[in-house]
Amino acid sequence: MYNARQDFSAGGVSTEIVDPSLDLFAEINRLKKEKNAIVLAHYYQDSDIQDVADYIGDSLGLSQQAAATDASMIVFCGVHFMAETAKILCPDKKVVLPDLRAGCSLADSCPPDRFAAFKAAHPDHIVISYINCTAEIKALTDIVCTSSNAVQIVESLPKDQKIIFAPDKNLGRWVMQKTGRDMVLWDGACMVHEIFSREKIIRLKQRYPDALVIAHPECEQPVLELADFIGSTTAMLKFSQQNPAQSFIVATESGILHQMAKSSPQKIFIPAPPNNQCACNDCPHMKLNTLEKVYLCMKHEHPEIQLEEHIRIPAERSIRRMLEISAQSGL
Ligand code: 13P
Ligand code: SF4
Repeated sequence: MYNARQDFSAGGVSTEIVDPSLDLFAEINRLKKEKNAIVLAHYYQDSDIQDVADYIGDSLGLSQQAAATDASMIVFCGVHFMAETAKILCPDKKVVLPDLRAGCSLADSCPPDRFAAFKAAHPDHIVISYINCTAEIKALTDIVCTSSNAVQIVESLPKDQKIIFAPDKNLGRWVMQKTGRDMVLWDGACMVHEIFSREKIIRLKQRYPDALVIAHPECEQPVLELADFIGSTTAMLKFSQQNPAQSFIVATESGILHQMAKSSPQKIFIPAPPNNQCACNDCPHMKLNTLEKVYLCMKHEHPEIQLEEHIRIPAERSIRRMLEISAQSGL
């Protein structure tokens, strides 16, 4: 039972001590039925969260699922901008995020006041924003995109249309190369995808000469130049399933390796090494969510995403345009 006097700590996480003997998988599944809830998880979540989710996907798949669900509560296991996107699309549903502090360095790299001035300096440009941005940026945007559909969205515009692309300069540059279009890029980047070391990947390739390098377009150009395949997390997963190669060097957040290993247990997946001594390519924001916090946010229906209508309505317009173009492109 929800207790109105319940205490919540930083990030809106309940301070309730969870009995360590509790079967959290069973409890989460019980709460799903009791509250007509759906658990959506990004591939970068911990493997136990992926295992309890109703749907695991990339940003496009997750927003399509959110738009289509008839559940009363969406439990968003990802970062804040993803849960916010679900709330923008489903204003009448309760959307909870296990830890409100789960942010995104890329979204943070594009503050709305600076972006509004940037946009005003380019008055005849259409704004395409990568979904990894705040609701305020989406409200200043004409069409949202994800790494799955950015190329198709740019190509859907007339060739002479001037475009601002924000906030990820690495994805923007890759889209420019793929489409041959010039765009004005916002100077933002993801802390996880900028950490991979080109030199260490070259050395890894000497040790595993048959391994294919698969990379996310948020990576920097010197890393993308080494890649045999570039695509969104879902596209990388599909490539690893369909390509006959037996080993892959994976240049994206390490959480995706769980689904790759699960669907191709005979294949070898090697995380691309970072350029420092840290042994991990974990996104510290994504990894703030834990199975325990998923359970607590479902039990207390808190922390909940709230949005003001004057931001939500224009933000919804730019996301719906993305969903329409994606559907027309068969994505
Ligand atoms: P996709 O899942 O859309 O490939 O995006 C990756 C990412 O960085 C999400 O934060
Ligand atoms: Fe943001 Fe990068 Fe983490 Fe994705 S991996 S949530 S883009 S910081």
